[in-house]
Amino acid sequence: MSIGTPLPLPGPVPRLGVLGSGEGSNFGVLLEAIDAGTLPAQIALVLSDNPGARILERAASRGIPHAWIDPGAHPNRFSLEAQQAVSGQFRAAGCDLIICAGFMRRLKDPVLTDFAGRIVNIHPSLLPAFPGRDAWKQAYEAAVTETGCTVHLIDAGIDTGPILAQTRVPVYMGDSADDIRHRIQAAEHQLFPRAIRDLLATLPQAG
Ligand code: GRF
Repeated sequence: MSIGTPLPLPGPVPRLGVLGSGEGSNFGVLLEAIDAGTLPAQIALVLSDNPGARILERAASRGIPHAWIDPGAHPNRFSLEAQQAVSGQFRAAGCDLIICAGFMRRLKDPVLTDFAGRIVNIHPSLLPAFPGRDAWKQAYEAAVTETGCTVHLIDAGIDTGPILAQTRVPVYMGDSADDIRHRIQAAEHQLFPRAIRDLLATLPQAG
């Protein structure tokens, strides 16, 4: 019996390393997209600076390797030791891309150099407007009629890296800051898996 023309072997599945500090709802939609086959990737490792972060529980419930990284003594900074641990653990896990899914600390070297052009963040505004913390609150206080969310690559600045994709979100009269936050998050959940899929398609074959 002829075996016919061999099918091309599929390439290796890209491995994602995820960083998050809190709820992990964006991580949840990435898992759903992977399960649905619309995001051709696998989650290799989830790391958090917050030992009580729900994102770690979500990883645990799926049997995904996960760990807490001691951020160091400063309440907002991420120590050099922590940066080294993040880079070392993601490299050891063979990660092709780092995904910041609600990670509240700034990445620096060696992470930035080791994963240059391969660190993705989601931010709740139409960058370059409202960088930094609580962007939906900034939008509320500025009384804008439109805000949104941005997926971008991380560089050494605060929310300054190259923009990959954005979604506009309306702000209605009478909205509270929380209404804006919820509307932005709904848009994030649509945008994030799509933007990561599109980025993966442009990267050299993983593996
Ligand atoms: C998102 O709104 C994201 O834009 C910001 O942090 C939030 C994380 O939410 N960077 P979650 O942890 O994914 O639910």
